[in-house]
Amino acid sequence: MAQSTFKRLLVGITGGIAAYKAAELIRLLVRQGVEVQVVMTQAACQFITPVTLQALSGKPVFTDLWDDRIDNGMAHIEFSRDADAILIAPASADFLAKLAQGRADDLLSTICLARGGCPLMVAPAMNVQMWENAATQRNMMQLRNDGVAILGPDSGDQACGDTGLGRMLEPQDLLDALEASLQPKLLAGKRVLLTAGPTFEAIDAVRGITNLSSGKMGYAIARAAIEMGAEVTLVSGQTSQKVPMGAKVIKVTSTQQMLSAVMENLNGQDIFIGVAAVADYYVLNPSEQKIKKDAHILTLELAPNPDILANVTNLPNPPFCVGFAAESENLHEYAEHKRRRKNLPLLAANLIQDAFGGDDSELILLDDKGAHPLPRAPKLILARQLLKHVATMLKEQKTFTGNK
Ligand code: PMT
Repeated sequence: MAQSTFKRLLVGITGGIAAYKAAELIRLLVRQGVEVQVVMTQAACQFITPVTLQALSGKPVFTDLWDDRIDNGMAHIEFSRDADAILIAPASADFLAKLAQGRADDLLSTICLARGGCPLMVAPAMNVQMWENAATQRNMMQLRNDGVAILGPDSGDQACGDTGLGRMLEPQDLLDALEASLQPKLLAGKRVLLTAGPTFEAIDAVRGITNLSSGKMGYAIARAAIEMGAEVTLVSGQTSQKVPMGAKVIKVTSTQQMLSAVMENLNGQDIFIGVAAVADYYVLNPSEQKIKKDAHILTLELAPNPDILANVTNLPNPPFCVGFAAESENLHEYAEHKRRRKNLPLLAANLIQDAFGGDDSELILLDDKGAHPLPRAPKLILARQLLKHVATMLKEQKTFTGNK
């Protein structure tokens, strides 16, 4: 399980039926090694008991500004000082209104007002009519302007029987959104185009040539780029990966389709990353019907596919290009050779036995300065490190050329 970016989190729970989801959220956080301090409003205690959350967080739960377990009566100051961030989940319409107005009439709202520089995140949860009400929308606008991160809400069936926006994000999605909101926005204002997954070259109506790429690495990079503030277009071969929230995805099958989608979407992109495992050959005369089995030897005629990355790097004004190389041996040497041959400022090299299909991998980043190994980690962590490297190189390039 991936480690969180933060170590100590204050989770505030307010009154709403989604309070039951906070139990699972806290369980997931604790499993990731996060120290969780729960603070509840009186209304939240009508939906879920402090005892449940105390058992899950392993720490006393506080509900009252005048709680005599708090030594010096300064809980509202101390709690936020000790936390890397505050997350209110669920955040009711009433509590959001209170935050927007800067009111402090209970322990949780007082902690929020006294939080100083501690980041505040809210996961709204309410009926669709309450969410769409002009007053709530005004409050949300105010909170955004005040630098509060808004996680969700989701759309779907609601406890009251209505359908629409207002559901609190599911615990795992909330955790993902929380991680995302804490990533440095190193690619804010940048546009990133990337390829992911395998391509598939048809032999007949049901068969084809493909490879074992799962799409995990490419989708992780897409997600990490969005977290860092980029606008992302993902040209993807056939995979079962979940599309990262906020990415524009173009699904393709063959290499030729992938090339067309890349070239059609290249205009205005700042960064191009070729993560896809592209089939090097296609079948010259694929059969439209399923080929019948008989006793004869079947010969397939294969012709080389275009190189998508080369089509991009050879443009007169290409975006910053990153290639990948999957090798089965002599990783460093073969990959560096590929980087020079493909004229790439940066290439991420991985061993085939590490990289295809798994959740974890390791990379060596190769650039003009040399090799930068990234030790074994979940692909999302590697993706963030890769993009951090890209952001640094872009910054250096800008400083060097003097562009503003
Ligand atoms: O999807 P996963 O299961 O998570 O696995 C990730 C991965 C192993 C697919 C990924 O990390 C990776 O290494 N992708 C590149 C795979 C590869 O073998 O690349 P290559 O050596 O064939 O090509 C080098 C570069 O040229 C790549 O950036 C590739 O996208 C690009 N290329 C290759 C051929 C071609 N016709 N067009 C291309 O653009």
